[in-house]
Amino acid sequence: MEFKNIILEKEAGTATLTINRVKALNALNKDTLMEIKEAVENVQDDKGIDVLIITGAGNKAFVAGADISYMLNINAMEGREFGLLGQKVMRLLETMDKPVIAAINGFCLGGGCELAMACDFRISSEKGKFGQPEVGLGVTPGFGGTQRLPRIVGTGMAKQLLYTGDMIDAYEALRIGLVNYVVPSENLMDEVKNIAGKITARGQVAVRFCKVAVNEGIQTDIDRAMTVEADLFGICFATEDQKEGMKAFVEKRKPGFTGK
Ligand code: CAA
Repeated sequence: MEFKNIILEKEAGTATLTINRVKALNALNKDTLMEIKEAVENVQDDKGIDVLIITGAGNKAFVAGADISYMLNINAMEGREFGLLGQKVMRLLETMDKPVIAAINGFCLGGGCELAMACDFRISSEKGKFGQPEVGLGVTPGFGGTQRLPRIVGTGMAKQLLYTGDMIDAYEALRIGLVNYVVPSENLMDEVKNIAGKITARGQVAVRFCKVAVNEGIQTDIDRAMTVEADLFGICFATEDQKEGMKAFVEKRKPGFTGK
């Protein structure tokens, strides 16, 4: 598969999508968003891949935002279309049934922070820098930032970050729950691949159902959410993975899951 703005690599059940526009600090233009969409669809359809990692090329940025040079001269309708395209790609990532991990290696701003927040969780290097600086450009976030940031860090902290446009470092991002871990830069990809490896060793039907249960449950009332969980839990008992997982436990051996 030929891409100009991203790199898609696959190894041992894990795909890594690297945003690769180093000169523009990996800023997201329309072409890059379209390529991310194509790559995510490819990973979704690939039966050999269970986890997707997203990172940025170079040693300075994950993604420094949506492409300001593109947005400079667009009109209201073009702005709306650009926002909808970004939202669509983020939502595709968020709702694909395979887990997605953001490996953040530097500036993670605006559309970049929105991309990271559409992933299931985020691991940052010590060089991670986070923020939604859009108000400093005279716009709101447009790829879901006003909606996902408060869901992740709470409304008070989200509003402060959104209204001030302040940039925070990786340890502050850790403190407010925007990232799960901060690791030395040179260890970032190994640490993230290690987590991905733990996930790929589990029963994939169950892993994917966990994603559905959390995503569905978080936006519905608790009674409906419990029904979603009960239904998914019940369906697990129709899978080979459940039979194998529990049999292996009783036989005191490691399970050999097939994802069926
Ligand atoms: N879009 C386009 N180009 C960008 C960019 C962006 N978001 N961020 C950085 N670049 C480009 C710079 O223009 C520069 O290009 P040139 O070398 O051709 O001049 C190159 O990347 C390197 O950037 P700097 O020289 O600025 O690097 P720095 O180390 O001095 O600063 C930075 C780094 C603090 C991240 C700074 O580049 C910056 O503030 N970038 C913009 C961050 C931002 O505002 N992001 C939000 C965008 S709006 C958005 O994302 C809307 C939305 O929600 C959809």
